[in-house]
Amino acid sequence: MILLASTNANVGFPAGMEILRKGGSALDAVEATIRPVEDNPADRTVGFNGYPNILGDLELDASIMDGRTRESGAVGALKGVIPAISVARKVMETLPHVLLAGAGADRFAAEMGFPQTEALLNPDVIAAREAILKQDMTDTEFATLATSDNLRQWVRLATDPERTYGTVNVIAQDANGNIACGVSTSGWAWKYPGRLGDSPIIGAGNYADNRYGAAACTGMGEMAIRASTAHSIVMAMKLGKSLTEACELAMEDLNALGGNFIGRMNLIALAKDGTPAGYSSLPGKTFIYQTDEMETYVEKERTLVEIEERWAE
Ligand code: GLY
Repeated sequence: MILLASTNANVGFPAGMEILRKGGSALDAVEATIRPVEDNPADRTVGFNGYPNILGDLELDASIMDGRTRESGAVGALKGVIPAISVARKVMETLPHVLLAGAGADRFAAEMGFPQTEALLNPDVIAAREAILKQDMTDTEFATLATSDNLRQWVRLATDPERTYGTVNVIAQDANGNIACGVSTSGWAWKYPGRLGDSPIIGAGNYADNRYGAAACTGMGEMAIRASTAHSIVMAMKLGKSLTEACELAMEDLNALGGNFIGRMNLIALAKDGTPAGYSSLPGKTFIYQTDEMETYVEKERTLVEIEERWAE
């Protein structure tokens, strides 16, 4: 058995490993590992106190996938509800759908008994948003953002060079060899309202298939959507590539994307034999994993595959 994740999932490892050690399912372990990350007020990229969209609203994306059946559930632009990963799991388990977004996701969360949380942002994050946006706009422009008919302009200004995006990725393989993968994020800081990243898109930010392995992404979600990155890695393994070859292919495919909005990417992946991997387009980035033989998780440097970043003028 193994639990493999982006490093910010360390707060959830005790909960996830306890489930795996007791013979619990990979799916339960993934959900239990992500929930403490969503509750962690110090994590600006996931759940409670994550950076909001440009209007100051927190919009959460999450997905979970069961590698036994490839059943999946996801929520996008969910407002005011954590744990988003648990709402995603309920989508998988109770609906004939895979992805709910916006008002429908909020409605479904309420219907399933998840409480609406009024204050998902601390004052420090609210102040940070104001300080960053006011580097580019006047007090009046900031105060009238909600009614602006040119919000797209401000999204561009706010996100370059202050691009802030991050996510939590968790993959588990349980004692029965079953694999599950979960992803949760508050998305790209100061994003346009309604923007969905790769995290709720099955095949882009999350993919799991017991027969071959699993993969998940953090970084600029638009790139992973365009290249179907998580699915590409699992598909490459299906076609006989090794884990290393599959991850390198996916990173190289991202580097080959055209256009002006090319940023960073990180991924983790697991082969069905339990071998973990982590890759990044930036040096020094890490991932963590723990097996049943290990007392605690180890933090490993991700393999670097550079992606040439390009940003519009
Ligand atoms: N990878 C997270 C996002 O782009 O929203």
